[in-house]
Amino acid sequence: MFLSKRLLFICLTIGVFVLTLSKCSDLKNQESRDIRGPEYADQTSCIRCHKDINTSFSETSHFHTSSPVTAELEGIPKTENTFAFNDSLKVVVEKRNNRTFQVAYYNNKEVEAHQFDIAFGSGEKARTFAYWEQNSLFQLPLTYYKTINKWTNSPGFPDNQISFKRAIISRCFECHSSFAKTQIVKTGSLSVSEEIVKGAVLYGIDCQRCHGPSAQHVIYHEQNPQEKSSKYMTRISQLSRQQKLDMCAVCHSGNDRLTQISTFTFSPGDTLSDYYFPQYTRSRKEPDVHGNQYGMLTASACFIKSDMDCSSCHNTHVTEKNNPALFSQRCMSCHNADSHPLAGELGKVALVKNCIDCHMPVKPSRLITFKVAGKTQKTPYELRSHQIAIYPEETKKILSYLKSR
Ligand code: HEC
Ligand code: HEC
Ligand code: HEC
Ligand code: HEC
Ligand code: HEC
Ligand code: HEC
Ligand code: HEC
Repeated sequence: MFLSKRLLFICLTIGVFVLTLSKCSDLKNQESRDIRGPEYADQTSCIRCHKDINTSFSETSHFHTSSPVTAELEGIPKTENTFAFNDSLKVVVEKRNNRTFQVAYYNNKEVEAHQFDIAFGSGEKARTFAYWEQNSLFQLPLTYYKTINKWTNSPGFPDNQISFKRAIISRCFECHSSFAKTQIVKTGSLSVSEEIVKGAVLYGIDCQRCHGPSAQHVIYHEQNPQEKSSKYMTRISQLSRQQKLDMCAVCHSGNDRLTQISTFTFSPGDTLSDYYFPQYTRSRKEPDVHGNQYGMLTASACFIKSDMDCSSCHNTHVTEKNNPALFSQRCMSCHNADSHPLAGELGKVALVKNCIDCHMPVKPSRLITFKVAGKTQKTPYELRSHQIAIYPEETKKILSYLKSR
């Protein structure tokens, strides 16, 4: 009796062990060598069964929000390649040996030069750049501000001196890439610093950055091609509203709180507040249009009095920009233009083309500004306000514009 019980226990243990092992080897046998670990599928595998989403997604700003620069920098006009800080100090963007450099000059003598190694930002509005020094990354002094097509002093950099020493930390990658491996190195007897492992960065935001690790999903569907409903994949439609919002808020709720766990491991269904240190004071600053669409939206009547989330207006698999009429359609899934207070004055046709310029106007950021050479006043970074509300000033402007035509 005693023996058979023990035997049963051993058999069970072996059974569990073999099962675990076969699961692991299933994962290991994947062609995937995703640096995030065996639970992640090879990113290119999604294309086999989700071709359309894959094709449209690869055009989006998310996909292009960071990239290595391995040759000459493209997509930036070669004219106006100089930024003068004053009469004696300037930075010039120069091509050297098929690479692009930012070169600092003092009284026309070169003092420092670094090449473009990484671009942050898809270039939709702005792109900033970094160079490697071993496993440390530093931001280059000039940022390209696409909105005005000019090189500007990088936001937050000093106005009267050139700095090549501002470190780029892994936090930038948490919002602008799919993964960046870090290591802690000792820099003194009591001090440590963080390094980014140069070869272990996954640039751009990929499917699994939003949907979470998908190796089991890929293995299952490859072995069961007749299965039409998804397995081993979190169903977003079944998440709570807050869980859906957190999927976007992980990168769109600002950067003024300290994270205690890297957000790289965030998966749909997780609770975002677990990733931050608890806050005991209620001294949160006003949300800014830059990077905090979540904070702005959640303060709007639309949000408070409906069950809207980001997907009520955005489909992140496709590029939908600069199309006010399309976004206005989304407003009208809840609102009726006929009963709008200005329907009589404006006419319904004009009204339905553009709800957003009156109710979600473009507003300057308080946090990010750009210094243009020779100008004392800084140019603000401008974004759509996600605080959906009535803006009397904007309405005046739009009304007089519409009536002048
Ligand atoms: C061998 C085929 C196959 C591969 C490869 C595959 N999927 Fe799927 N996936 C499916 C099927 C089948 C469904 C269910 C039908 C549908 O929603 O398209 C699905 C559904 C999904 C869903 C929707 C889940 C839901 O029900 O809401 C997501 C998200 C998803 N896959 C992500 C991925 C990602 C990310 C990859 C790449 C890492 C991937 N899939 C690779 C077959 C595959
Ligand atoms: C891993 C971080 C991350 C996550 C998660 C994320 N975003 Fe973004 N998103 C960004 C960054 C960074 C940009 C800026 C891209 C660029 O460089 O232009 C951006 C840009 C955007 C844009 C403007 C560009 C465009 O395509 O129109 C929209 C809209 C957007 N995100 C919506 C969402 C929504 C909705 C979700 C949730 C479903 C989401 N994002 C999840 C980081 C993220
Ligand atoms: C920025 C975050 C984000 C990224 C990146 C992303 N998705 Fe999604 N995906 C979502 C959200 C949010 C939904 C749910 C949409 C809804 O509820 O309308 C979704 C839904 C899906 C679905 C099920 C519904 C559908 O549209 O068929 C599939 C399949 C899917 N995603 C596959 C992918 C694949 C493949 C990639 C990479 C090519 C990808 N997703 C990249 C956020 C993302
Ligand atoms: C908490 C998430 C988060 C962090 C951290 C973050 N960003 Fe961003 N960043 C965003 C989002 C979201 C956008 C786009 C929308 C916006 O500005 O609100 C953006 C926009 C940008 C843009 C303009 C992109 C474009 O195409 O217009 C640049 C450049 C940029 N970030 C660089 C950086 C750098 C460099 C760091 C680190 C010092 C950093 N970001 C840290 C979320 C983040
Ligand atoms: C998911 C449904 C939904 C969507 C989508 C939606 N709204 Fe709303 N909105 C509401 C609700 C509910 C209210 C509150 C109405 C009330 O108090 O009677 C509201 C209120 C408003 C108000 C009044 C705000 C105030 O402070 O008094 C404005 C303006 C508005 N919405 C504009 C828009 C615009 C513009 C869009 C598109 C960009 C939009 N809404 C999309 C549901 C929605
Ligand atoms: C020319 C600017 C302008 C445009 C375009 C515009 N609105 Fe308004 N909207 C206003 C102003 C101003 C008010 C407040 C008027 C008042 O209270 O007399 C308002 C009020 C509202 C309200 C408050 C509820 C109500 O009926 O009092 C909602 C909801 C709303 N707008 C939604 C929309 C939607 C949806 C669209 C697009 C179909 C739209 N608006 C287009 C300027 C505009
Ligand atoms: C009621 C509709 C609506 C909702 C809900 C909504 N957005 Fe937007 N969003 C817009 C519109 C309209 C634009 C401007 C598009 C354009 O001009 O091309 C925009 C633009 C953006 C941009 C680009 C910023 C810029 O200035 O170009 C980002 C990033 C973004 N949304 C993120 C989010 C996130 C994250 C959520 C959820 C917290 C969200 N949005 C919810 C309507 C919405």
